[in-house]
Amino acid sequence: MNNIERISQEKLVLLDDEIHIYLIKLDLFDSKECIQYLTMNEKIRAEKFKIVEKKNQFIITRSVLRILLSIVMGKSYKKNDFFYGESGKPSIKELLNNKPIEFNVSHSENYALIAVTLSNKVGIDIQLMDFHIDYKKLSKRYFSEQEYNELKKVHDDNKRDAFYRIWTQKESFVKATGHGLKFGLKHFSILLDNDCKLGVEVVTPVPLKDSWFTYNLIEFDSYKTALTTSTKNSEIILHQ
Ligand SMILES: CC(C)(COP(=O)(O)OP(=O)(O)OC[C@H]1O[C@@H](n2cnc3c(N)ncnc32)[C@H](O)[C@@H]1OP(=O)(O)O)[C@@H](O)C(=O)NCCC(=O)NCCS
Repeated sequence: MNNIERISQEKLVLLDDEIHIYLIKLDLFDSKECIQYLTMNEKIRAEKFKIVEKKNQFIITRSVLRILLSIVMGKSYKKNDFFYGESGKPSIKELLNNKPIEFNVSHSENYALIAVTLSNKVGIDIQLMDFHIDYKKLSKRYFSEQEYNELKKVHDDNKRDAFYRIWTQKESFVKATGHGLKFGLKHFSILLDNDCKLGVEVVTPVPLKDSWFTYNLIEFDSYKTALTTSTKNSEIILHQ
């Protein structure tokens, strides 16, 4: 049995207040075995990628996502119709126990993260740290004044790590709201907290309709990850 077939054997049951996170190591999957799980439109999209690694990231992540959603809904993986929000956030309209099934995905180099949950709106992000980027310049450009000042206080040895913790949380926030970059990355602040496991509320100048809580999830090799959700006390269940 190959790894994509193994995913089909997962026993995923969505309970209220649970967020299931799947960490996928992409090189353990063969995109040729995964492509059959995609719809015709997704296959056409896959063909348009010029960089083969990006193409494989898309094919593998999308096929795992389709399979997980089909397990949750108890129906064929091809029958999940995806709808795209104004900024491109994919979603499905089907309900489970009268509640919306929410999901979000992120990929970076050799890993992908998929979050699946009931009712909670979610945004997820994974980033492989780049040791060449000028994080000082980027934080000046993209971070709020509060974040920029917080980062300045961090010891030089830890600054790059702290930059990526904030960055992944910011990304997961814009992905949770579904507004993408339209929201303006400077217009909200992630508080750099040492114990983000508790979920820190995102600070916005004007209160939003929903409250949002962000977490740094796992860190491994040089990868940083983050999740933003619309409820504070959900149980996060990591599958890896
Ligand atoms: C598109 C964006 C939402 C995420 O892009 P990204 O970090 O390159 O990509 P990720 O791998 O994390 O996420 C891509 C996935 O998110 C989902 N997605 C796309 N648009 C989305 C949106 N508006 N909201 C939520 N999720 C979205 C899709 O499922 C997509 O994967 P798929 O196309 O394979 O299905 C957007 O926020 C972006 O371009 N960010 C980069 C901005 C930046 O420079 N930030 C600097 C901060 S210091």
